[in-house]
Amino acid sequence: MKTLIRRAVAEDLPAIAVADGRGFGLHYSEQDLDDFRPLFEPERYLLACEPDDGVILGVAGSFSFEVTMPGGAALPTQGVTWVSVATTHRRRGILRDLMREQHQGFAEEGLALSLLTASEGGIYGRFGYGQAGRSRTVQVQRRLVRFRRDAPGLGGVRLVDAAEARVRAPEVHRRWAALTPGAVSRDDRWWDCLLLDRPDHRDGATGLFHLLHADGYASYRIHHADSTCRVVDVFAATDEAHGALWRTLLGLDLMDTVTSDSCPVDDPLPFLLEDTRQVRTSGMADGLWARVLDVTAVLEARRYPVEIDVVLDVTDPFLDLGGCFRLRGGPDGAHCERVTATPDVHLEIGTLGTLVFGVHRAHTLARAKLIGAEPSVLGQLDAAMAGEREVRHGTSF
Ligand SMILES: CC(C)(COP(=O)(O)OP(=O)(O)OC[C@H]1O[C@@H](n2cnc3c(N)ncnc32)[C@H](O)[C@@H]1OP(=O)(O)O)[C@@H](O)C(=O)NCCC(=O)NCCS
Repeated sequence: MKTLIRRAVAEDLPAIAVADGRGFGLHYSEQDLDDFRPLFEPERYLLACEPDDGVILGVAGSFSFEVTMPGGAALPTQGVTWVSVATTHRRRGILRDLMREQHQGFAEEGLALSLLTASEGGIYGRFGYGQAGRSRTVQVQRRLVRFRRDAPGLGGVRLVDAAEARVRAPEVHRRWAALTPGAVSRDDRWWDCLLLDRPDHRDGATGLFHLLHADGYASYRIHHADSTCRVVDVFAATDEAHGALWRTLLGLDLMDTVTSDSCPVDDPLPFLLEDTRQVRTSGMADGLWARVLDVTAVLEARRYPVEIDVVLDVTDPFLDLGGCFRLRGGPDGAHCERVTATPDVHLEIGTLGTLVFGVHRAHTLARAKLIGAEPSVLGQLDAAMAGEREVRHGTSF
């Protein structure tokens, strides 16, 4: 018998946590639920339930964010989260039904774009998501590091307590987010939640230490067992703040290693050092995924470093939100409209989600047969879609 899909209400949270916890192999505590409750928007959670007894078999929720588009505009979005299906009921189409209902709902409410980070890379392409970012883990053997004599960022950093970080860091984060494509907003609820810093979520490390600069913020934990500083957050709205924060982090005497699992591929850190190789990439994954729901609105929301004029044939096998669109854009703005014309570019909507954030090149996607276009058009796309910075969402969700 087919499962019933309904919207959650506030009282569902404990049952959602049991269902989702089983899906991910976790046991959430009462404290975890109390901490999460302010972020829980019940109407944003769809539940697939057993028709007989109402037991929850599948969950798909979302958080309300704004995301920065290349060029700096902020677009309202939903960050899909808490997605799971009961181990006993997998591969029967429950996720597919949840995804269809959830994303049709997004489109009906006029949302242009949704986002997620994926537990596994093979799940979401079929639902129209494309890889929009990259997530890099770096390790630095800090005793081997020398900063270049003229590298930016001398001083201006203070160690502060969580209360002061709570007051000052959000404003810095907003300025950093405005400069960073793919950055998702952190409202007060998120800051409250992230700074709770519960001991059972520290994975054997210390509580958070907070570094504040007039234009930057960083937090880290110390893992004494292996003399490692684990950087949790680094946001800088200026190069001076970026350099000053990293000088402080890499100056932590007694530590052997400093690690960060969200260091953008284009982070200038290696170039602040005499030996760039000391910033060692130890892991790389597909950070942010994007699902275009309104092609016109998404293409108009970003800016293009050079003029572009192309006709895109976008197919959307999952939700049928594609079509043929003419995009004319440049540094000052963009106009996109549905047209009946001969397309220059053929691609699926997931690939458009990848392309629009500018991290992956059109030439690369064409070599994988994800884009069909003449070489001259690929050149135009690569020049126009390039982002000013690497995508970084900045908050795990
Ligand atoms: C991922 C998960 C939600 C899938 O749920 P499900 O109900 O089994 O998925 P469906 O039966 O609706 O599958 C829909 C399609 O996705 C595919 N699929 C599902 N899970 C997949 C996975 N982990 N990897 C690759 N493909 C997957 C199915 O094969 C099916 O493919 P098709 O379109 O070719 O028929 C479920 O396996 C789960 O709860 N996993 C653990 C928690 C998790 O990783 N959640 C995702 C968080 S981002």
